[in-house]
Amino acid sequence: MQDLDRIRAEALAAVAAATTPEQLDAARVAALGKKGTISGLMKNLGAMDPEARKAAGAAMNAVRDEVAAALDGAKAVLDAKALEQRLSRERIDVTLPARPESLGRIHPISQTIEEITAIFAQMGFTVAEGPDIEDDFHNFTALNIPPEHPARQMHDTFYFGERVEGGRHLLRTHTSPVQIRTMLSDKPPIRVLVPGRTYRCDSDMTHTPMFHQVEGLVIDEATNMSHLKGCLIEFVRAFFEVDDVPVRFRPSFFPFTEPSAEVDIGCSREGGELKIGPGAGWLEILGCGMVHPNVLRNCGIDPDRYQGFAFGMGVERVAMLKYGIPDLRTFFDSDLRWLKHYGFVPLDVPTLSGGLTR
Ligand code: FA5
Ligand code: MG
Repeated sequence: MQDLDRIRAEALAAVAAATTPEQLDAARVAALGKKGTISGLMKNLGAMDPEARKAAGAAMNAVRDEVAAALDGAKAVLDAKALEQRLSRERIDVTLPARPESLGRIHPISQTIEEITAIFAQMGFTVAEGPDIEDDFHNFTALNIPPEHPARQMHDTFYFGERVEGGRHLLRTHTSPVQIRTMLSDKPPIRVLVPGRTYRCDSDMTHTPMFHQVEGLVIDEATNMSHLKGCLIEFVRAFFEVDDVPVRFRPSFFPFTEPSAEVDIGCSREGGELKIGPGAGWLEILGCGMVHPNVLRNCGIDPDRYQGFAFGMGVERVAMLKYGIPDLRTFFDSDLRWLKHYGFVPLDVPTLSGGLTR
C-alpha cells in the first residue's frame, strides 16, 4: 500500500508538471502504459490471496481512475491553451477594408458580358451555352445555309482537318448554332441569351480573328418584329445609360432570319477617340430578324404555330462604343497598362438596381 501511495503521488505530480502534450503523454505512459508503474502493481494482484486481492484491487483501480481523470483534465487545459495561441496567431481582422487592387482587374469584355446579361435577365432571358468547336450542321446547315451557299464564304471560317469518318469540324463563326442546340433540346416558349467566343479569319480596327457575340432567341406563339425592335431599343438605352443614343435599323440579309436587319449606333472618331452620338459615322453592333420558318422546321418546331426573333451582337463593338476604345485589336494585346486603364474593379458587380458601371 505504501508503494501505491508513492506511485499515485508521483503520477499526479508528473501530470501536474506537464506543460506540453508530449510531456503529458510521457506521464501517461509512465503510469498507465503497459510497462507503467500502476500497470506493474496490478500485475502483482494474481499472487495475492482472494481477500487481500479484493482490497488491493479496489485501491489500485481507484488510483488508476484518479490518475486517468487527472490526465484528461490536464489534456483539456493544454488543448484549450494551444487553441487560444493558434487563434491569436492566425487572427484575421474582418473589419479591415477590402483591397480590390490586389485582385487585379476585370477585363472590359467580361464586364460588358455581365452588363448585357444583367439587362436581358431583367427581361426574362436565361443564359445558355454551346461549344466553340462546332460541326457543319449546327453552324450552317440547320441555319438554312446549305453546302455551296455563298453565305459560307462570307464567314471566313477556320476549319479543322478532314475526319476519318468524313466531314470537318470548325470554330463556330457566330453564336447562332446555339439557337439550333436550344431549339433541339427545349420546347417553346424559349427565351435565351448566349454569350460566347466566335472565330473568323479577319483582322482590322473593327475585326479580330477571335471575338465575342451574345445571341438572343425568343420563340413563342405571338412574338413579332415590333417586339424585336422594342427589346433591342430598350437594351441599347439601358446599356449605354443615355436616352438619346442614335440607333438605326438597316434592312439586311441572313439566311436564318426573314425579314432581317442590322443595327448601327451613331458615333464619331474625332481625335482618335470613339464617341457615341450623332456624328459622322455608324458602327454596326448586331444582326437580327424573325427566325426563318426553315430553321424552326429543321429543329422540329412547327412554323405554323410558333414564331420569334433572334439577334447576334458583337460584344467588343458595344464595349468600344460604351468605353470609348477606338481599336478592337487592343482588347487582346494583354497590355497591362491598357488593362489598368480600361479594366474594372472586381468588387463592382454590374446590376440594374446597383448601376451597371461605376
Ligand atoms: C452574325 O454573325 C449573325 N449570326 C447575327 C444574327 C443572329 C443575325 C441572329 C440574325 C439572327 P454578323 O456576321 O453581322 O452576323 O455579326 C454580328 C455582329 O458581330 C456584327 O454586327 C459585329 O458587331 C460583330 N462582328 C462580326 N465580325 C466581327 C469580327 N471579326 N470582330 C469583331 N466583331 C465582329
Ligand atoms: Mg454584319
